[in-house]
Amino acid sequence: MDYVGHRVAQEAAREATSATTPFTALNFILLSVLLYTTYSTVSRSNTVPPLPRGPPPKVFRTYTPRTLLPFNGQDDGPIFFAVRGRVFDVSPGRSFYGPGGPYANFAGRDATRGLACHSFDSDMLTEDLDGPLDTLDGLGPNEMEALQGWEETFMGKYDVVGKLVSVADYNASAKATTADAFPANGN
Ligand code: HEM
Repeated sequence: MDYVGHRVAQEAAREATSATTPFTALNFILLSVLLYTTYSTVSRSNTVPPLPRGPPPKVFRTYTPRTLLPFNGQDDGPIFFAVRGRVFDVSPGRSFYGPGGPYANFAGRDATRGLACHSFDSDMLTEDLDGPLDTLDGLGPNEMEALQGWEETFMGKYDVVGKLVSVADYNASAKATTADAFPANGN
């Protein structure tokens, strides 16, 4: 075979090889793109976005007039008040009950009598924080009806976060709980 014939045969053999092999530059690039796209799709779907931090959980507790008092909204703290033994978290109504608000006198207090009588007078609030709760004596049907209206409003608007009891009742129930947990064994 002469030189030209030999080269033609060589070229023909090379073209045949490159046409059948899958390892061409273009295939390599396409394969890389495919792998990258697959990887980024899979890794994105595995990444769970962080959940937004919710408000702290609310725990139902038993309060006395004294332990309710700190919940008066000072220093941006929560605001609670009690109405007929129910403790409401009225923090969403900070503009009403927060420091400087028109109804700030009720914050951290038993607001029952003041609401029933539509009065901000200080003698509407329980004075002795360690004494008995207001028995609501002296309130007439109109006041009781007004009170019920307030309760309905608050029940639809605010969370109930506890109950208000006198210190005496609190201590009595704490004693009863301890006795239940550690009953005398008769020795
Ligand atoms: C001049 C007399 C008064 C005026 C003009 C007045 C005005 C208002 C207004 C505009 C609201 C907002 C209502 C809303 O947007 O839902 C409100 C709510 C309220 N008011 Fe009065 N008020 C007066 C007297 C009183 C009195 C005497 C009391 C009780 C002692 C009282 C207790 C409340 C309470 C508890 C709320 C509800 C706040 C809440 O939704 O948490 N207000 N008042």
